[in-house]
Amino acid sequence: MANAPLPELRRVVVLGTGGTIAGRAASSEDNIGYTAGQVGVSDLLGGIEAPEGVTLVAEQVAQVDSKDMSFDIWQKLAQRCVHWLAQPDVVGLVITHGTDTLEETAFFLHSVLAPTKPVVLTCAMRPATALAPDGPQNLRDAMAVAAADGAYGVTVVCAGTIHSGVDIQKVHTYRLDAFASGDAGPIGYVEEGAVRRVRAWPERAAKASKALEVLTAQWPRVEIVMSHAGASGAIVDALLLAGGAEPVRGLILAATGNGTLHHALETAALKAQDEGVAVLRATRCANGRILPRPDDRLRDAGALTPVKARVALMLELLGV
Ligand code: SIN
Repeated sequence: MANAPLPELRRVVVLGTGGTIAGRAASSEDNIGYTAGQVGVSDLLGGIEAPEGVTLVAEQVAQVDSKDMSFDIWQKLAQRCVHWLAQPDVVGLVITHGTDTLEETAFFLHSVLAPTKPVVLTCAMRPATALAPDGPQNLRDAMAVAAADGAYGVTVVCAGTIHSGVDIQKVHTYRLDAFASGDAGPIGYVEEGAVRRVRAWPERAAKASKALEVLTAQWPRVEIVMSHAGASGAIVDALLLAGGAEPVRGLILAATGNGTLHHALETAALKAQDEGVAVLRATRCANGRILPRPDDRLRDAGALTPVKARVALMLELLGV
């Protein structure tokens, strides 16, 4: 008698990095006085049903409050993503992450992975110990995206909304729906476990996939300096003077409006550029992009926020 065909194995791998989603507070009433990155990722999966036909695998990559995110963790995370994405039976990845630097990690992974499978970051605004934690639903929604037919690219799922890893930005300090996608708008929504997409999955980053090249790289030092009322060139001058073991290789200028700079900061930045420092202007505005002008003497980062422009410049300086 012929054997019945075995059902196809479909795995979703959940990589834990910490954050409020894994946070613990002394009281279930406390949504702010907790310690992030305490609960293991396997424990976060307890009680959450996997999407139909999917087997879950949990792996702890790091356990941090994402304000302390480091290049070492990024390198390890990229390496684990490369490993798991190469497994034929892995249909997608979920990454649990703190909300505070989630957009930087998402943009980094988008820039180096260009995955043909979904890589879905998720998070929570309330700790795991809260009376009504938001993490379990976010995790379940992220799994739905990771297992969805046709999904690909780096995305973020929070509060039932799917954002692209390029456009995502944290816009609220407390609300559960703390993220927005600016002018681009969300990619879609997760409703009762079903994905409703309203625009295309994220485009592949032009120069990806470069994950393996950044795994051992020594990251160049790139600092962010903000232009504001009463700004001066003092910080730029001090950074250049500091030199030392890790001299500044790049500067992101968090510019006003359409990329404008206080004249004193601009003078110092032009001097830095003449001395070989890579300088990029990124707008302080939450929405919109810098529209270039023919007489611009300092490059602009388009629609990238200062923190994402910093990731882009570091990768550029690494030759990635
Ligand atoms: C963190 O970013 O790790 C803490 C804050 C949060 O996840 O909301």
